[in-house]
Amino acid sequence: MNLLVSGGRLVDPANGLDAILDCLILGAKVAEVGRKLRAPEGTPVVDARGKVVAPGFIDMHVHLREPGYEYKETIATGTRAAARGGFTRVACMANTDPVNDNRAVTDYILAKAREEGSVRVHPIGAVTRGLKGEALAELGELAEGGCVAYSDDGRPVMDAGLLRRALEYVQPFNLPIISHAEDATMAEGGVMHEGVISTELGLRGISGAAEEVIVAREIILSELTGSPVHIAHVSTAGAVRLIRAAKTRGIRVTAEVTPHHLLLTEEAVRSFDTNTKMNPPLRTKADREALQEALADGTLDAVATDHAPHAPAEKEVEYDHAAFGIVGLETAVPLLLNHLVHGGVLDLPTLIARFTVGPARILNLPGGHLGKGADGDLVILDLDREHEVDPTRFASRSRNSPFGGWILRGFVWMTVVGGRIVQQDGVVRGGGR
Ligand code: DOR
Repeated sequence: MNLLVSGGRLVDPANGLDAILDCLILGAKVAEVGRKLRAPEGTPVVDARGKVVAPGFIDMHVHLREPGYEYKETIATGTRAAARGGFTRVACMANTDPVNDNRAVTDYILAKAREEGSVRVHPIGAVTRGLKGEALAELGELAEGGCVAYSDDGRPVMDAGLLRRALEYVQPFNLPIISHAEDATMAEGGVMHEGVISTELGLRGISGAAEEVIVAREIILSELTGSPVHIAHVSTAGAVRLIRAAKTRGIRVTAEVTPHHLLLTEEAVRSFDTNTKMNPPLRTKADREALQEALADGTLDAVATDHAPHAPAEKEVEYDHAAFGIVGLETAVPLLLNHLVHGGVLDLPTLIARFTVGPARILNLPGGHLGKGADGDLVILDLDREHEVDPTRFASRSRNSPFGGWILRGFVWMTVVGGRIVQQDGVVRGGGR
């Protein structure tokens, strides 16, 4: 597939570029980035003047729910949501049914993604069989099948001895283990952050310490084994401090943060809107501030949505009984453009780096930059276009977002995968790759 994207402000942090440049894609790969490029006869041209062109964004933490929970999301609908959100690659978590703990499930996901996916899909395999935390999954097979990491996300691996063995065992495959860092015994029964507000509301709390004790343990185990550990959805200032100190000491720990933890706090739970219930929970203002600072200074390497679709029946219930999680693919980029970039917290190249080269490095993916020969995946942003978040119009099968009605400045105008326009102006074109 050929495409010339001309006249945009091209921001490619991995290659240190931020200038008005054209990008020529030939045969689905980046042929050249430069000034006033000429394309072969018949090459479609996209006029990107006044807009920002960046490498396709990568969401390293998504729940596509297929197989098993197709009533929440499918690979087709989830990747359409990704395309609308500016993501050209998503990594999908293993808590499907059956769990992605063996090659057959990985093969199924990849085959479905080829047939029906609008963007590239990278499965994450389970660390333990059935996510039960008892015996290791088929780790070698999962790597051979194309998994890009291992995680029991949704649950921590509570047995430190087992996690240590997993970290040692996966060394030849060079894939990171992603930790849902939360001590299950401390978090048991909790539905929101533990503090004054949980007491006022009469809801059971989850202390920030439940996250921090496991972050500390993962750092210690990474140091012991020399294997990389990635901390999913970091939510507390204490976890940030531990990760920052570990990185300074050269330990192979990386970390991600979600848009909702960057923007919302426990205050939002006062509404009793079950779309404020997620795991880890929304924390304090001080935590939110520490997360924003850590994203800016690189302690947090990546933004990831933890896109967690749930059906209305699972959310339209009492707070205590509602499912944890919110959808995020279609709101992440506009939210952060509006609040972090226009809000003066983060410059645009840094935000783009956290959506591109950051996750690409953690998962050893070929994407995340627009160097010659790279996959022709890019996103074009309209920084000034305002729109209202309307969950009823999501491409996702689910609508569980706390951001409905928010007016945001910053819009994902176009998404290109392998030189093919898969989304323009909010409209997704076809599926299957
Ligand atoms: O809120 C969450 N929902 N956090 C997780 O870690 C899992 C996810 C889900 O699968 O619904």
